Amino acid sequence: MAKLRTQVGIIGAGPAGLTLAHLLHLQGIESIVLERHSREYVETRVRAGVLEQGTVDILCNSGVGERLKREGLQHQGVELRFDGKGHRIDFQELVGKSITVYAQQEVVKDLIAARVGYNAPIYFEAEALRVDDYDAEPKIHYQHNGEAHEIHCDFIAGCDGFHGICRLAIPAGQIQFHERHYPFAWLGILAHVPPASHELIYNYHERGFALLSMRSPEISRLYLQCASDENIENWSDDRIWAELGTRMATREGFALKDGPIFQKGITPMRSFVAEPMQFGKLFLLGDAAHIVPPTGAKGLNLAVADVRVLTRGLVEFYQRADRAALQRYTERCLRRVWKCQRFSWWMTSMLHRFPDEDSFSHQLHLAELDYVTSSRAASATLAENYVGLPFDTPGLF
Ligand code: APR
Ligand code: PHB
Repeated sequence: MAKLRTQVGIIGAGPAGLTLAHLLHLQGIESIVLERHSREYVETRVRAGVLEQGTVDILCNSGVGERLKREGLQHQGVELRFDGKGHRIDFQELVGKSITVYAQQEVVKDLIAARVGYNAPIYFEAEALRVDDYDAEPKIHYQHNGEAHEIHCDFIAGCDGFHGICRLAIPAGQIQFHERHYPFAWLGILAHVPPASHELIYNYHERGFALLSMRSPEISRLYLQCASDENIENWSDDRIWAELGTRMATREGFALKDGPIFQKGITPMRSFVAEPMQFGKLFLLGDAAHIVPPTGAKGLNLAVADVRVLTRGLVEFYQRADRAALQRYTERCLRRVWKCQRFSWWMTSMLHRFPDEDSFSHQLHLAELDYVTSSRAASATLAENYVGLPFDTPGLF
């Protein structure tokens, strides 16, 4: 059995693990990244694609933003569409910020290329099986090429997503879960067709929510609210386009063009927070600690916000032997996490049809949307949250 030694053992090469490894490297802190899937798998996994300005700044300031700046689509607003009309929320005018549409797997590719480029350790098809002794001398047991290995490290970063092993290693009684399940899911597609709008459209309709997004000037990304136990086999391409057309074509003069669908999937909708997010020398980041429903597009951005807090804590520990920032990791992360949970829950509740809703509920959805789009204060609240709340502690990038 091979025994390796590093400062920070990172489990998971999603946005959380890769961003952490990259920022630590720039600060002269060594890490090893373990990922149970292949490089190709993580580089092609389709997820959301909206980056807050703060996330873009961190990626650009840390030197991995070259392609993002070139290929990312900068948006100054979004449209909320309901009751036959579209209403633009102008981020730039309301809060002076923007968002960037750039697929999550592109962020992942850029971060992997950087790590491979400076020759820092990242092992694919290396599955962490167990974490040990995280209060004193942390160890990660993992399997690679059919052999058992061990990493001895100062700290473990659990960046292993919602289904990872790190959160599960905490004994019941030491960790608390806050959860909400929504009685619907999203059916998402990617299609070879130019987006019917140059900005995102969040659409409320009596038949359910629909969202128009995009990946490039040639590729549309679209979502439909569907049942949580929906069988994707029941959705032919024709049925998807027809349903999207019905829900979105509420504005006069708007035509949704169809095109070849090359990817389809169902995304469950859940809100989840684990508390605390740190246990001795084990830290949870990103989806391992919290899940938001995709309506607010916050998942990746929250993962990067956790990384920002942990990086600062680790730098203060290694450079000045100061543990204060590390000790406040949970508190600092959760302040932002709960505000993003609130925003994602609110967007989800406002824009979706819940089972058994009557005409009263429908009118409430419409009144809320009317208020949000006609009151400057309410529009600014949506805009401020959507582009990303300011960070309330200083970062390094
Ligand atoms: N050993 C090694 N790797 C593991 C293990 C394990 N035991 N368990 C899970 N992983 C890997 C997964 O294969 C995955 O690549 O951890 C990674 C976790 O990545 P993500 O699920 O992308 O989570 P995170 O980095 O926190 O990113 C959060 O990504 O999941 C989306 O919607 C989410 O946008 C959010 C963002
Ligand atoms: C996406 O483009 O995948 C996307 C955009 C906005 C969301 C969720 C997903 O709220």
